[in-house]
Amino acid sequence: MIDFNRGNATISVKLVVRGLYLMSKHKRIVDLRSDTVTLPTQEMRNAMAEAELGDEAYEDDPSINRLEEISAEMSGKEAGLLVSSGTMGNLVAALAHCSRGDQMIVGHRAHCYIGEMGGASAHGGIIFRLVDNDERGMLDLTQVEALLNPKDEPQPKTGMIEFENTHGSTGGRVLTKEDMLKVSKLAHKHGIPMHVDGARIFNATVALEMPLSDLVQGADTVTFCLSKGLAAPFGSLLCGSYEDINRAKLIKKSLGGGLRQAGVMAAAGIIALNKMVDRLSEDHENAYRLALGLAEIQGIELNPEDVETNQVYFNVKIDNQPQLLNELENNGVRGLILDEGWRFVTHYGIVRDDIDWALPVINKTFQKFR
Ligand SMILES: Cc1ncc(COP(=O)(O)O)c(C=O)c1O
Repeated sequence: MIDFNRGNATISVKLVVRGLYLMSKHKRIVDLRSDTVTLPTQEMRNAMAEAELGDEAYEDDPSINRLEEISAEMSGKEAGLLVSSGTMGNLVAALAHCSRGDQMIVGHRAHCYIGEMGGASAHGGIIFRLVDNDERGMLDLTQVEALLNPKDEPQPKTGMIEFENTHGSTGGRVLTKEDMLKVSKLAHKHGIPMHVDGARIFNATVALEMPLSDLVQGADTVTFCLSKGLAAPFGSLLCGSYEDINRAKLIKKSLGGGLRQAGVMAAAGIIALNKMVDRLSEDHENAYRLALGLAEIQGIELNPEDVETNQVYFNVKIDNQPQLLNELENNGVRGLILDEGWRFVTHYGIVRDDIDWALPVINKTFQKFR
């Protein structure tokens, strides 16, 4: 029996308050901000604990060497190079292909232009030359051709064309092998290399049901990330010819990218490539399910058929959007407002039931603001 004397009552109130605090701390959160919030699987954690290690600077780390071999094989390129991030992979590629004062041709909505701190300019003196991305992220070929065949001389030399797939700021849209070949053929006709920013290229290969080597056949170099939908805690790969990757190794070193015993993280990356690619289709199904539900909510504008992978972009016709986002987060659903509009991303941490739970929460929260 509880004895409600003064001392015990204080203790029970404290326990109730603590319980409520813990309940609020552990309330359901559906985090749709990005697939970068994914946590490593237990299998990855075990592999990390047991990874064979060595000094990467001497090419002595067996786990990194293995990860680079697998990456080269999957991409159909001669060699792979582990770098710390997608940004670093794209920067190293730009510095490997271009000299100071060169221009690189990129879409006006490319991540390397809008989301990577202008690294190619800052570190390599490279000029971004913009061509239009269409609503899928495809580059305008007429504009590319015009830059490759300048009427007015002198013009900066073109060092590289960059192609992004999936295309982030158009909503994770998938560009096909034919799209990519159109650009690489044009580039190669003028002796220019094409680099692919494939941060989420496995979302494209899964959507297209095509091996990576096939999709990037026309590319000279490709970067892809392990730490987004593939759920590894770290790392991206840059793949290309021996010549390009040997040059890239020195550039990576000059950027402070020596990784020593990073085999501890490469071990997780190996599992990401071997085990986590095929399941991306589940993220795509969840994103489409989410999009169908969102399209029914008053105040939200989107066409579910535009959702091709794990990203759902939509417009909101309601005032006070930052407050609305904040309220949504208080109610357990996290998303982002970007320049392009609202974004929800599905990933390894999200199951179908999370979508079915989140949709009524979103609807109810939006209702309050209408
Ligand atoms: C298309 C694209 N490229 C490159 C990157 C950069 O990757 P990281 O964040 O690993 O530097 C991102 C990041 O989200 C991206 O979406």
